Amino acid sequence: MAVDIAREIEILVRAKYPILYLVSWEERRVEQAIQTVAKSLNRTLHTWTITQGAKPPISRAGIAKPTTLSPELEILAQIYDAPEGTIFLLRDFHPYMKDFRVIRLLRDLAIRIRSKTQTLILTGPVLTLPSDLEKDICVLDFPLPDAEDIGEFVDSVIASVKSDPKVDVQMTPLEREKLVKAAQGLTLDEIESTFARSLVEFRTLKPDAVVREKRQIIRKSGLLEYYEPDAELRDVGGMELLKEWLEKRTESFTDRAKEFGIPSPKGILLLGVQGCGKSLTAKAVAAQWNLPLLRLDVGRIFDGSLVGLTEKNMRSAIATAESIAPCILWMDELEKGFGGLKGSGDSGTTSRTFATFLTWMSEKTAPVFLVATANDVSQLPPEMLRKGRFDEIFFVDLPGLAEREEIFRIHLTKRKRDTKKFKLKALAEATDGFSGAEIEQVVVGGLYLAFAESRELAQKDLIAEAKNVVPLSVMMSEDIAELREWASLRTRPASKNND
Ligand SMILES: Nc1ncnc2c1ncn2[C@@H]1O[C@H](COP(=O)(O)OP(=O)(O)OP(=O)(O)O)[C@@H](O)[C@H]1O
Ligand SMILES: [Mg+2]
Repeated sequence: MAVDIAREIEILVRAKYPILYLVSWEERRVEQAIQTVAKSLNRTLHTWTITQGAKPPISRAGIAKPTTLSPELEILAQIYDAPEGTIFLLRDFHPYMKDFRVIRLLRDLAIRIRSKTQTLILTGPVLTLPSDLEKDICVLDFPLPDAEDIGEFVDSVIASVKSDPKVDVQMTPLEREKLVKAAQGLTLDEIESTFARSLVEFRTLKPDAVVREKRQIIRKSGLLEYYEPDAELRDVGGMELLKEWLEKRTESFTDRAKEFGIPSPKGILLLGVQGCGKSLTAKAVAAQWNLPLLRLDVGRIFDGSLVGLTEKNMRSAIATAESIAPCILWMDELEKGFGGLKGSGDSGTTSRTFATFLTWMSEKTAPVFLVATANDVSQLPPEMLRKGRFDEIFFVDLPGLAEREEIFRIHLTKRKRDTKKFKLKALAEATDGFSGAEIEQVVVGGLYLAFAESRELAQKDLIAEAKNVVPLSVMMSEDIAELREWASLRTRPASKNND
């Protein structure tokens, strides 16, 4: 990958793209890649930071005029007069790109540089591109180190500590592979610190220690969360058709499936009534397929108030997920993020971020399986529901009679009760219109009743509790009817009709 990105930069430089913007936290790797390009094209590389100025200094073709410009304007002015055969790398320039003078100078430079053998490269951890500059600047995402890059790094670390008697870094090829896999999704700097920590703490390079650290780092990013799947498919009552679909694909991310010619499944959208097990199923898929589960906070993608930040958020979440692939990316309550798109004429930001997401969905090749959930279809933009985005859109309806029986069985068993002591069918009949969450509530409520009277849970507690609960479906019957009608034409049912 390191080679690929250097190649891509080289192509853009040779094609005379005047200004590039590389989004990355990894200054060292970015600079290395650009150095490679500069060397192969025989160009002089000048790097600049606000604290250190240009290195080496830029000699100006024109007469050096003493200036009173601020440093960020000064460097652009210097580039304007600089000789040919050069590449300029400006680090962390984004804070200055709000200044109208900087914007104007960059636009002037874009025109001037186009006819010269010069390239201006901006780099920084975030992308905040004013819309005035969108057409003049080409944005590139600098990818995280891939397995090969990490492998090389592992080897160099092993070589450097091999003679140290205090540590043991002997490793079988399989252990090395495990370590590399554990480090995927981190920047090289992060990998370096996790390795250092593992060496100090355990006197060896331990994949578990790296994974632990990775969780921390992903948590810090705020958008993605490593989720421990706490449910399996057998904890989900009903939804036979959906479960069948998922079970059939259990092995589809293995090498064996790939060799057989099976494409990785893209993802599913679970649409439906509240409390009927959509989120539960998302977690169960990860357990069933034995893949890491990453939860993406849809609402927070749109937290960024600056233009470009939300788009960057989206891209960085996607990059992290891809670097951990194969994995499950869980986007819960989709309408919370993309809901604003319909109706009110939102700024371009939301729709651009949405476009980034759609493009990724239709073009993605990395084995990231998307499980999205939503309650309210009317809020979702129609493009999202078009064929080919998701493998399937499943409609999760209120559980039928037999399903309610199963859900009672699951929740009673979970609380260590012998289900033979209950008439499950009668319970199911007493809970017509209840969601899975409400059935769980009945079981918990029944436990409270029995506990208060210091006796074991009995059938009558559950029946009494069921009479107490007014299911949401009664209050929302119109909404549900509408959703059903919509879904009957466009989605596949998660359950066989068993009512
Ligand atoms: N089909 C089911 N089988 C077993 N338990 C269920 C089922 N449906 C719901 N539950 C119970 O209810 C809880 C809440 O369900 P869940 O959060 O999955 O619903 P949801 O469809 O995501 O609802 P929402 O639309 O409100 O997000 C689950 O954790 C589980 O304990
Ligand atoms: Mg949910």
